Amino acid sequence: MDLPPSKTLLADARRLAETNLSKARLGHTLRVAQTSERLAKAHGADPERALLAALIHDATREIGGTNLLHLAEAWDLPVGRPERESPKLLHGPVAAELARRELGVTDEGVLQAVREHTVAAPGMSDLSLILYLADKIEPARDYPSVERIRHLAERDLRAAATEALRRSVAYNEKRGKPTHPDSLRALAWLEGDESPDEPRSD
Ligand SMILES: [Fe+2]
Ligand SMILES: [Fe+2]
Repeated sequence: MDLPPSKTLLADARRLAETNLSKARLGHTLRVAQTSERLAKAHGADPERALLAALIHDATREIGGTNLLHLAEAWDLPVGRPERESPKLLHGPVAAELARRELGVTDEGVLQAVREHTVAAPGMSDLSLILYLADKIEPARDYPSVERIRHLAERDLRAAATEALRRSVAYNEKRGKPTHPDSLRALAWLEGDESPDEPRSD
């Protein structure tokens, strides 16, 4: 079991966010951090690991698509077709790798939560679900179903993530945009149609 992060590591992660983000996105990150901590406490997860993941999650969100692609390639991170077409999708995986290299984060659960926060993934841990949801429901988020997802997140992480993913699929369909295959697989997993280790056969 992974131990809670040290105070020094949490301070380093906060500094990483402060030095890499605009005031507006730092505000978002700090609200996600608060929300993640609260959800972790409510669901029996470690609030400090949730806090660490939240402080890291958007650290590379403002470095630009070209830089994200270059870093992902230099660090041998998986880059699929959706990521080539929309390199900003790489900001989670690149932030996780940056935190591993620069802050010495070794907690694989924290790194995985950071990697998965944008499009979700089948088999997500509670920590991953917490960050994914906190990112969608932090207090400044405002969209039609946010209150419903906020309520669900208080009592059932999986039900809340299911609702958030359904909403995201519907939103993409309305705009004629494809949904990331990992989001579809995550939704199938949450709905009970897919085991986390088996790729979809259809
Ligand atoms: Fe993000
Ligand atoms: Fe975010």
